[in-house]
Amino acid sequence: MKGIPSPCFVLEESKLARNLELMHSVKERAGISIILALKGFAMWKVFPTIQKYLDGATASSLHEAILCFEEMNSKAHTYCAAYVPEEFEQISDISSHISFNSLNEYHRYKEICHKKGLKCAIRVNPEYSDVGTALYNPCAPGSRLGETYEHFKDGIPEGITGLHFHALCESNSYDLERTLNSFEKHFGHLLDQIEWINMGGGHLMTKAGYDIEHLISILKNFQVKHKVKIILEPGACAVWQTGYLTSRVLDIVNHHGIKTAMLDISFTAHVPDTLEMPYRPTIREGSAEDSALPYAYRLGGMSCLSGDFLENYFFEKELHIGDSITFEDMIHYTMVKTTTFNGVNHPSIGILRSNGEFEVIRKFGYDDFKNRLS
Ligand SMILES: Cc1ncc(COP(=O)(O)O)c(C=O)c1O
Repeated sequence: MKGIPSPCFVLEESKLARNLELMHSVKERAGISIILALKGFAMWKVFPTIQKYLDGATASSLHEAILCFEEMNSKAHTYCAAYVPEEFEQISDISSHISFNSLNEYHRYKEICHKKGLKCAIRVNPEYSDVGTALYNPCAPGSRLGETYEHFKDGIPEGITGLHFHALCESNSYDLERTLNSFEKHFGHLLDQIEWINMGGGHLMTKAGYDIEHLISILKNFQVKHKVKIILEPGACAVWQTGYLTSRVLDIVNHHGIKTAMLDISFTAHVPDTLEMPYRPTIREGSAEDSALPYAYRLGGMSCLSGDFLENYFFEKELHIGDSITFEDMIHYTMVKTTTFNGVNHPSIGILRSNGEFEVIRKFGYDDFKNRLS
């Protein structure tokens, strides 16, 4: 679209609103709370919109908790894999709920929490997950995330009012159901001792085909059966398919017949999940799969990391310098993970408003690179 710079993360306002409306209706119909996981999306310019639909945010660090407090005007539900002692007082001042990754940490910090009237939970590990990629599976054997059931034979320590688990990733309601069965098997005996349960993130209810009615019935049944308040804290789901990343071809190199279109983005610096997961994003101008198309190009990132490229994409027409390549669904786990490796500039950030107008909300430059280090 005219006026959109390259490279630029473009959030589409109307698509964000559509996702948030769906999440809001689930929360209302199931009688639960839904908060946004800032680790997946922290573009605070749109927090006022998010606030209208959701119940706040979950933070996984002091900085995310401050962002929640400052820009969402609400105290965070905070879970850190391990708390930094020098930060805990401040975290406890701006959090309403604190989840601990271990019983040791709970005992270390419980007095501060109780003095301030915070709601405390222990993260537990249901030891069941349908997540296939080990990098994203919190229940992989030996996982450091969440206490295992053997520590709860004698119940739950005094002062803990909640349980927290996170075992899903881009999952559906049937994955949740199976995870809950395992959770109940291992931790069911604790449920009459607690008031609330945080079922983590990974609930991709905004994906086409997600069985919303099934999700609502699981949540309602669980609440009735165990008389606990349920909180979900998805991240990706709120901004699933709500925008794109623009890029353009800077050069084309041809080495022994392998053509690479060199782009003005870096996969490792700007969309690292494409290399880490790895996965092949959809592009507007060509195809990731259709090898019958006549022109094939690797898409090359602008860093000097050898592996900073995506294997062949296929096109109807030959690519030329200056052509646009638009990567779809580039809003979750992108802006939160970017780096300035190689000194590459950060893509601009913009919003395509519901009325069709485009607004750049942030441009980056040398100072952003310089100020990260000293
Ligand atoms: C503890 C916790 N909660 C919530 C989330 C958000 O998950 P998602 O963005 O997949 O919904 C994550 C993601 O890693 C997480 O680790």
